Amino acid sequence: MKSLAADPREAARDGFLSDTVAGSSPAGGPTGGNPAGHVVVTGVAGFIGSHLAEALLAEGHGMIGIDDFTPYYSPGEKRANLVELIDHDRFRLVEGDLSTMWLGDLLPGARVVFHQAAQPGVRASWGDFETYVRHNVVATQRLLEACVRAEVPRLIVASSSSVYGDAPVYPTTEQTLTRPVSPYGVTKLAAEHLCLAYAQPSVSSMRVAALRYFTVYGPRQRPDMGFRRFLEAAYADQPITVYGDGEQTRDFTYVADVVRANLLAMTAPIRADVINVGGGRRVSLKEVLNLVGQVTGRRIRINGIPSQPGDARHTGADGTLAEKLLGFRPEVELATGLAAEAAWVANRRQAATRDVPA
Ligand SMILES: NC(=O)c1ccc[n+]([C@@H]2O[C@H](COP(=O)([O-])OP(=O)(O)OC[C@H]3O[C@@H](n4cnc5c(N)ncnc54)[C@H](O)[C@@H]3O)[C@@H](O)[C@H]2O)c1
Repeated sequence: MKSLAADPREAARDGFLSDTVAGSSPAGGPTGGNPAGHVVVTGVAGFIGSHLAEALLAEGHGMIGIDDFTPYYSPGEKRANLVELIDHDRFRLVEGDLSTMWLGDLLPGARVVFHQAAQPGVRASWGDFETYVRHNVVATQRLLEACVRAEVPRLIVASSSSVYGDAPVYPTTEQTLTRPVSPYGVTKLAAEHLCLAYAQPSVSSMRVAALRYFTVYGPRQRPDMGFRRFLEAAYADQPITVYGDGEQTRDFTYVADVVRANLLAMTAPIRADVINVGGGRRVSLKEVLNLVGQVTGRRIRINGIPSQPGDARHTGADGTLAEKLLGFRPEVELATGLAAEAAWVANRRQAATRDVPA
């Protein structure tokens, strides 16, 4: 088994690199002269990062995945997200916190860095703001410093529709005034601006695309997110907690579409761009709940509670720029994507029942 840090002694001395876990290494290893250059995915154990990593491996890339298994939700669930990756011979996992870890020579030679790591969650961000600043702003700034030092040519960073807040116009273009309505949105906007600042020609020749994802769903969705909560409650014959009157709308984006937008951004003619990545249409929560009833075959009971501070009333992506710059159009219909997530939730429930000792 090969160590993951290029120089673990130095890492240990500096105290930057936390515990590491080794996957097996490809001949030469991603940092050891992969002629085509490797890719780096931060937040690789998360919902979106793990899907992206699987797609990149399927395309033949050598990869270093970085994650700190933060306790925002179960680290065990994050480890389960890596099941298809961990033994792959072109994948290495490096465990560490980007806001403090030593990035060493993980980045030199990388052709693209995909920065997915973040502290997510709009509602929780009203509490421990320091954690959001550390994982979303400080971590991004340290990664940027390391990218510039390593002369990484391209950074694709996960931004969020939450930077818009309650947008004045729908669908919302990238030119719309950004006015986040949650501390989370503020940190995502700050991270986006940092990336653009480091992409200035006077600072680096790094090309940057900040992809503003609109509510992403699909298998492995985070447990705090709406569809996951709705599906789990439906299968458990529990009432579904719904914030607000159900008339709020969202542009829901299937995770495979988000992954495809990232893959397209690897070669697209970007320089320093922010680009909406949406699902193609706005859907009301009431429509979603109907669909949840259909795909689960359960009778839906609703426990309505007031909407929460930080929740935008509507979101909707104008996808013109994504189509022009990336050649991206969403492909997965809500009913199809929701059925895929429902099947995953149902399988997890069955597996959990099987695992309970008699
Ligand atoms: N899920 C969505 O609907 C959505 C919408 C808009 C934007 N985004 C953005 O997409 C990205 C991925 O979101 P997700 O839903 O997959 O979240 P997630 O929590 O499932 O994944 C994020 C991963 O990053 C890791 N991480 C966090 N801070 C870290 C740090 N300092 N160092 C190393 N690893 C760290 C976490 O352990 C986690 O595994 C985030 O940047 C998020 O802000 C998500």
